[in-house]
Amino acid sequence: MKPRFSSPAEIKVAVVGYGGIYNMGRIHLQDVQKAGMTPRAVVELDPSRLAIATQDFPGIQTYAAVDEMLAKSDANLVILITPHNTHAPLALQCIAAGRHVVCEKPFAITTEECDQMIAAAQKADVVISTFHNRHWDGSVMKALEVVKSGKLGEIVRVEAHMGQRNQPGDVWRGSKSISGGILYDWGVHLLEYSLQLIDSEIIEVSGFSKRGFWAPETRWKDDTIEDEAFAVVRFKNGVWLTLCMTHIDSNPKRGMVEVTGTKGSLWWDYEKHEIIVKEGDTTTVTQGRNPKEKWENYYANIADHLSKGEPLVITPEWARRPIHILDLANQSAAQGRAIAARYA
Ligand SMILES: NC(=O)c1ccc[n+]([C@@H]2O[C@H](COP(=O)([O-])OP(=O)(O)OC[C@H]3O[C@@H](n4cnc5c(N)ncnc54)[C@H](O)[C@@H]3O)[C@@H](O)[C@H]2O)c1
Repeated sequence: MKPRFSSPAEIKVAVVGYGGIYNMGRIHLQDVQKAGMTPRAVVELDPSRLAIATQDFPGIQTYAAVDEMLAKSDANLVILITPHNTHAPLALQCIAAGRHVVCEKPFAITTEECDQMIAAAQKADVVISTFHNRHWDGSVMKALEVVKSGKLGEIVRVEAHMGQRNQPGDVWRGSKSISGGILYDWGVHLLEYSLQLIDSEIIEVSGFSKRGFWAPETRWKDDTIEDEAFAVVRFKNGVWLTLCMTHIDSNPKRGMVEVTGTKGSLWWDYEKHEIIVKEGDTTTVTQGRNPKEKWENYYANIADHLSKGEPLVITPEWARRPIHILDLANQSAAQGRAIAARYA
């Protein structure tokens, strides 16, 4: 791809959403600065958060609405850090205004939204990507190294899981219609990890879900996310992947991801990993700390892509893959049958 800018500094960045739950707006703009790009504007519905953005980045433009920012600001890259159901409409709005877009994960809620966003970006000749910072988590970088070393043999199954028995929260993540469901938060990261390990086409997805246990207790009532949801993904190379996210498991499972191969198994959590290899009667267990995450690589690649024409690592087609799995899992849970994958 031809470079769009002659230097990273020419990439002027607006963030939409400067929320207080994890202070993600500040984290994004700090990495933007590290990559040599220029923080230019913050758009936020909550005036108290705009005041914090001004303290963090003195002189930054502030806006209460995206329309106003698009009309008045010279920002040429917009980063969306808002609740999940706003990603697709806001991205389409920014693309229509000729801006490059980075969307927080999940890319969107449905496959159709992803396809619309990809088509609109192609038509407008702008770049769109998703902030899959956890592509560079130490745990998955270590797992890739172990899998590629052949220590585990041929990969047979990957199991990703997270959660325990606790009531969904009253912030927007607890709402099915706003968040997309229990699978759409950390589940997207776990799928993105798993898809790095399973290099094969998705054939079909079966989804299962339980709703209604916590619903009467939350502010969202019938719109509360699932108590638990589970997906099984079949890949063309024969590997299968499971994802379980739960708010009802009184016996939470060890680790975040487990990989089972013909020669050995690997499991990991954020900090550490364990490799178990059995030969004859001898079982060898190797434990280790995961390397440090390298989230700054994400915006370094965006800057290199836009200013030097380097290949984009997190392409929209890549970001569509976990969403397609989640969309199919949702449809499958509702219809009670496996649903075939669709490659646009
Ligand atoms: N990649 C990661 O590691 C990571 C970590 C945390 C959150 N996230 C993602 O970041 C996104 C936001 O999550 P959060 O925890 O920061 O939520 P949050 O509620 O703290 O922040 C969202 C902010 O967006 C603002 N907002 C909503 N609609 C808006 C609009 N139309 N215009 C301007 N502002 C608007 C809200 O006022 C709020 O302050 C989600 O997609 C979430 O999944 C990613």
